[in-house]
Amino acid sequence: MQIVESPSEMQSYALGFRSGGRSIALVPTMGFLHAAHLSLLRLARERADIVVVSVFVNPTQFGPGEDFDNYPRAFERDAEVCRKAGADILFHPSADTMYANDHSVVVEETSLSRTLCGLSRPEHFAGVTTVVAKLFNIVQPHVAVFGAKDAQQARVIQRMTRDLNFPIEIIVAPTVREEDGLAMSSRNALLTPPQRAEASRIRQALLSAKALIDQGERDPEIIRRHVLGHLNESPELEIDYVDIVDGERLRPVERIDALTLIAVAVRIGDTRLIDNIMPACDAFPDSSRQSST
Ligand code: PAJ
Repeated sequence: MQIVESPSEMQSYALGFRSGGRSIALVPTMGFLHAAHLSLLRLARERADIVVVSVFVNPTQFGPGEDFDNYPRAFERDAEVCRKAGADILFHPSADTMYANDHSVVVEETSLSRTLCGLSRPEHFAGVTTVVAKLFNIVQPHVAVFGAKDAQQARVIQRMTRDLNFPIEIIVAPTVREEDGLAMSSRNALLTPPQRAEASRIRQALLSAKALIDQGERDPEIIRRHVLGHLNESPELEIDYVDIVDGERLRPVERIDALTLIAVAVRIGDTRLIDNIMPACDAFPDSSRQSST
């Protein structure tokens, strides 16, 4: 496995692979890799000749007062994990090489990114789309793999890919969970043991909503209140949102159907966690192909 730090060197490798007829899959990450990242890497491995994992804690997607400085980092361990998992290239640029001092171009999605996490993190998705667009241009992948845990991010990337005509297939991989159901996240490492115990409530709340829906409940407001009630039982959890939306357009629904997504964001202490469920269809829509919307 090659560790590449320079964007231009990465781009030369990528163009070389392409001219040699080899396909490239990209797994973009911010590092502190866990089993969910590895599941993305495995999917990438199945889909292309060359697997590139990027590890870059992207400063532009963190707002003022967010956890950029505290975001967990463990590059040596990440490199070892990627090597063992069969990545071909670990792309690990510095912020200086990714962003010129006077950089002034931003890629912004202006619809899907305005709801859910976009309300409390107004700059976040422009940071994500800008860095992912840059990674697409640097790594030149045929396929890129994202996780359904960040459902809104995946939808925003699908929309960017369509609207900017990136010739890239976006794959959305299922959410990988800890034994108690908590969605894996690099940020879980920031939780104290009592906070970690409380965090499992998020999945429990979503599963209990799914149980109500399985029994026939279709009213989103009843389901929303049910989830809120469940989460509110813990004084440790501060709710950012519980929203019941159309999984494609991310707009509130009047009645729950197969494409409905229940999305949750909470704070536990200083740590913000998100999760979601498609209660009537536990897989992300279009999980194996690029969405046309
Ligand atoms: P990061 O949080 O490191 O996540 C990297 C990828 O792993 C994302 O596609 C995310 O959705 C996926 N992922 C994380 N936890 C997951 C889980 N429990 N199950 C399934 N997939 C999971 O998301 C980012 O980094 C950044 O925003 C990035 C896209 C790299 C842009 O900077």
